[in-house]
Amino acid sequence: MSAESPELPKIYILDRMNGDLFGVPNSDVYLVISILLFFIVLELGAGYWNRSRRSSGDWIQEVLSYFALALIIKPLIVLVTLAIGSVILPSFASSLASWPFFIALLFYLLIDDVLQYWYHRSAHEYPFLWKLHRSHHQAEEMGFFVSYRNAALYYILMPNIWWLAVCTFSGIGTAVALGIVLKQLIIISSHSAVAYDKWFYKTKWAQPFIRVWERIFITPAFHHAHHGKSKIDGISDPNSNFGNMFSIWDQLFGTASFTTEFPLEYGLENDPKENWSVNYLYPLLKTDDPKSELSKGFQKTSTIKMEATVVELEKGKNYLWCTCGLSKNQPFCDSSHHGTKYKPQLFTATKTSKAKWCNCKLTKKGPFCDNSHFEFVDNKK
Ligand code: FES
Repeated sequence: MSAESPELPKIYILDRMNGDLFGVPNSDVYLVISILLFFIVLELGAGYWNRSRRSSGDWIQEVLSYFALALIIKPLIVLVTLAIGSVILPSFASSLASWPFFIALLFYLLIDDVLQYWYHRSAHEYPFLWKLHRSHHQAEEMGFFVSYRNAALYYILMPNIWWLAVCTFSGIGTAVALGIVLKQLIIISSHSAVAYDKWFYKTKWAQPFIRVWERIFITPAFHHAHHGKSKIDGISDPNSNFGNMFSIWDQLFGTASFTTEFPLEYGLENDPKENWSVNYLYPLLKTDDPKSELSKGFQKTSTIKMEATVVELEKGKNYLWCTCGLSKNQPFCDSSHHGTKYKPQLFTATKTSKAKWCNCKLTKKGPFCDNSHFEFVDNKK
């Protein structure tokens, strides 16, 4: 950038937003639209849309959210970043343009994906972000459009959208464009109702391929498990598998839960089913339903008790023990832990029997009571 180029913001806004892969301007946009069309045809052809039980509100939220993201939120974030960068850090403009293409691609993708991993994980662990993300988990059926089902503010705060803008400003916009296309391919396919990996898991000779693939990339089985309603089915694990393109982050940070099966049910337990407009515009819009996390002044209250509950266990059956102390069905989990760092503990009964289960959450032998609540009560005296 020479000192005689005062029109820097214009240059970046007009030129650097274009992902001119293969010399074709905006080719990244055309490729992503092609991927979407491909999955529309695939899901329609598989009869998924005819069988779908989704409400009109589900469709409105997902389609609206996709177009708002693609046409308004993302371009605005890029414009704002390029304009700010051109004013406060003009020397950074195009500073990485000489990087070899594949180095730039890896640089963009790896940082993008680890940012999204932590953002997504935080959205499951912190109440405010969870409220922006929970509608993504309300979907009771999978489908590629579910990928885009979040509150508008969730996208505005998403660090990796800002990252793509920073990379574009730094002069590696073409690598960013290809990175977006590749990432959308993985994300859309991992949400789709047509799960390509089912065939690989069922076909003996193909299994080694998918076993290697799933250790690097997010597969439908891996991500569907994240959308399953409850861990009680032994397949789902909504508090794991936060990755978006690469599964390496989940493996590295201890949240990977690999499975070859698919959840029996998707969605949220005890879901009050808010209107799509509240889901999309929270916190600008809130619901009047006091049971909803999206209502004004909603608070989760502790249900911890300083006494155990005797539960009847049936051999071979799965149970989820609440560790967060918020369930209204103690000592069992009722999914109130969403938006906290807690997750339920799966227990499979090895015999039919009665047992004393902990309600104080102080036990060191969960789910069983080890009388820690007595110590707590004694210490309080
Ligand atoms: S409600 Fe699920 S861990 Fe407490």
